[in-house]
Amino acid sequence: MKRKVTKAVFPVAGLGTRFLPATKSIPKEIMTLVDRPLIQYAIDEARAAGIEEFIFVTARGKSALEDYFDESPELETSLKKSGKTTLLETLRQTYMDSGAIAYVRQNRAMGLGHAVWCARRLVGAEPFAVILTDDVIAAEKPCLQQMMEAYEETGGNVVAAMEVAPERTSSYGVLDIAEDMGAIVRVKGMVEKPKMEDAPSNLAVIGRYILLPSVMQNLHRAKAGAGGEIQLTDAIAEEITAGNPVFGFRFHGQRFDCGSKAGFLQATVAYGLARGDLHDEFAQYLGDTVAMLKAGH
Ligand code: G1P
Repeated sequence: MKRKVTKAVFPVAGLGTRFLPATKSIPKEIMTLVDRPLIQYAIDEARAAGIEEFIFVTARGKSALEDYFDESPELETSLKKSGKTTLLETLRQTYMDSGAIAYVRQNRAMGLGHAVWCARRLVGAEPFAVILTDDVIAAEKPCLQQMMEAYEETGGNVVAAMEVAPERTSSYGVLDIAEDMGAIVRVKGMVEKPKMEDAPSNLAVIGRYILLPSVMQNLHRAKAGAGGEIQLTDAIAEEITAGNPVFGFRFHGQRFDCGSKAGFLQATVAYGLARGDLHDEFAQYLGDTVAMLKAGH
């Protein structure tokens, strides 16, 4: 019997320099797609996948993120008084049960692998999920839930995967494929940010992982890899040598790279259009804008 995955790690310690000056005073995870912060999308996806404990690896300057999940009695009273029940419900969905959320500090930025390792005591000897909030995935069935179902079948380590343009491999962890079974791929190696000519494939890792606790032990011994950072990719690749399988999972859904400005804007358009209350006005505006662009304005 595979052990149920109930813990998820959210590495949120990054400085968010690509979004300066906004990130001077707000954590990038609080930046909003329409009206919800990125972190809320990640939490909702984790909840849908059965996660019960949410572990945030934070850093200096992230207190707005920690406060975000608190209850807000003043706002509640005001919304109740004015009879704004829908907003009240929206507000309540952001609350987290006491004890369900934990924060651990990464005191130095040493890479994604190091950030995940900071959560080792809270994770303990259980399989766990990792969600990178920069990767927003719009999907009918949330991506992590799809992966949990795959994990039920495969066990081992499962990473979300997606084909990228060959010239983009240097921005991703890339899978070396042993056996391609369609949605699921058995992996024989992983390389972090290879140059196009060194990439073993163009199947890239996207920021959703289901990992065995042994990955934490690998991280414990880890040395700096690509970019001088401790890489999660290397610790997962080590699993293969140790005889623990690693699978890539081609998820259904559209992934947005909200770590980049262009990706964030694309996500804003997609999520804006998907909202019933905004769709008509926004679609009209976009249509007019595209027509104007086409006409050369
Ligand atoms: C991280 C991982 C990389 C993965 C990517 C997905 O890189 O190190 O393996 O492909 O997330 O978004 P980052 O984007 O943090 O540089």
